Amino acid sequence: VTSTERDARWLVGTSGLDALEACVRLLAAGRDELGVATGLRRQGLDAGRASLLLDVALARRRMQKDHPHDVDLVFTRSALEQASHPVVAAWRARRGATATERWDLCAGAGRDALALARHGRVVAVEADPVRVVLLAHNARVRGLEIDARLGDALQVRPPSHAHVHADPSRREGGRRLRALSTLVPPVDRLISAHGTVRSLGIALPPALALDDPILVGGEVEFVQVGGRLVEAALWLGDARHGGRIASATILSGSGDVADVVTRGRTDRTESLEVGALAGLIVEPAPAAIRARIHHELGREIGARRVDERRALLTVDTLPPASPWYRARRIEATFPPRPKAIRAWLRRHDDLPVEIRLHGVDADPESWWRRLGSPPRGPGGRHVELVRTSTGVRVLITVPTA
Ligand SMILES: C[S@@+](CC[C@H](N)C(=O)[O-])C[C@H]1O[C@@H](n2cnc3c(N)ncnc32)[C@H](O)[C@@H]1O
Repeated sequence: VTSTERDARWLVGTSGLDALEACVRLLAAGRDELGVATGLRRQGLDAGRASLLLDVALARRRMQKDHPHDVDLVFTRSALEQASHPVVAAWRARRGATATERWDLCAGAGRDALALARHGRVVAVEADPVRVVLLAHNARVRGLEIDARLGDALQVRPPSHAHVHADPSRREGGRRLRALSTLVPPVDRLISAHGTVRSLGIALPPALALDDPILVGGEVEFVQVGGRLVEAALWLGDARHGGRIASATILSGSGDVADVVTRGRTDRTESLEVGALAGLIVEPAPAAIRARIHHELGREIGARRVDERRALLTVDTLPPASPWYRARRIEATFPPRPKAIRAWLRRHDDLPVEIRLHGVDADPESWWRRLGSPPRGPGGRHVELVRTSTGVRVLITVPTA
């Protein structure tokens, strides 16, 4: 047992938790970190316990702000930073709901494990002994059955009938890792170790390349929370839905999954035609773009693509309201020369302006100045520099709803 592990065990005991509450109260009352740390040392707490306590107290303060449902849990700041978004964890856990046994590998302090355990018992494996202690405590707090084990995700052998979920680290020494083979542990090694279980899910950074050969044979899901793309996952075996190769999901709400829309695609055809600008532009949701579902979405609303390499769509009639895209009406179209645009803006009311780029390499700041420095901000017009099949066009657009 290392000293940090001993400190973690102390922290989740009665006196540690009392000290934690006191610490959180002091921080909430505006005491600075240094003051709290000095106070803890003065009470006779050794350096290891004092720094762990402060770390966990600061993580709890962050949770009070971002995820108030989770303030009963114990995380360090780094474990919290690496933890899945709670709504995403709840959503992902559904794919393990019907399995007879669930394993969570690279479990951290347990966001995903806790979500999985709501569907039944979980075996959680984590390489960091402090996080194993925190995870076991978090399971007790929630009254969930989790067998938290210290171990190596590549060495353990879950039974073949299990649903296995893994969430490899994306940070090493502060750097964000993107290539799937550089995650810790590497995704290809997780697949060779566990690819034969009945049902496998691996949480991944959303910046991944969909054509990465590591992903072949699975369903790659891109997940948004509200308008923001936050996660991706690879699903294999029974966890893959209906032969899909990609899917997109939009979650909203907090705590457990409140509201969800999701859709997938099974074929590789990406054949939406490219055509001239019509009366509206339609911007698909980021998850739909990343899953390359925008071709199918475009077909459904009778849209064309504006350019071969972009997901921006154009259509004549206003499509029905949908979480899958936002439509904006084109008020005016110009060649990429600021003078005429500036004159147009002067002739019209002074709604705030936002400059947006679509496949055009330009500096929005210098464009804004060349447009006469109009008022800036959301809720008004967009000046959109758009790469089209016939060259760059500048559109002035307004939201449709
Ligand atoms: C992204 S975090 C997991 C976060 C967790 N899913 C959550 O939502 O709270 C990745 C974890 O993998 C652990 N890890 C890295 N390599 C490992 C390995 N070979 N075996 C087990 N755990 C490992 C790290 O210590 C880290 O806690």
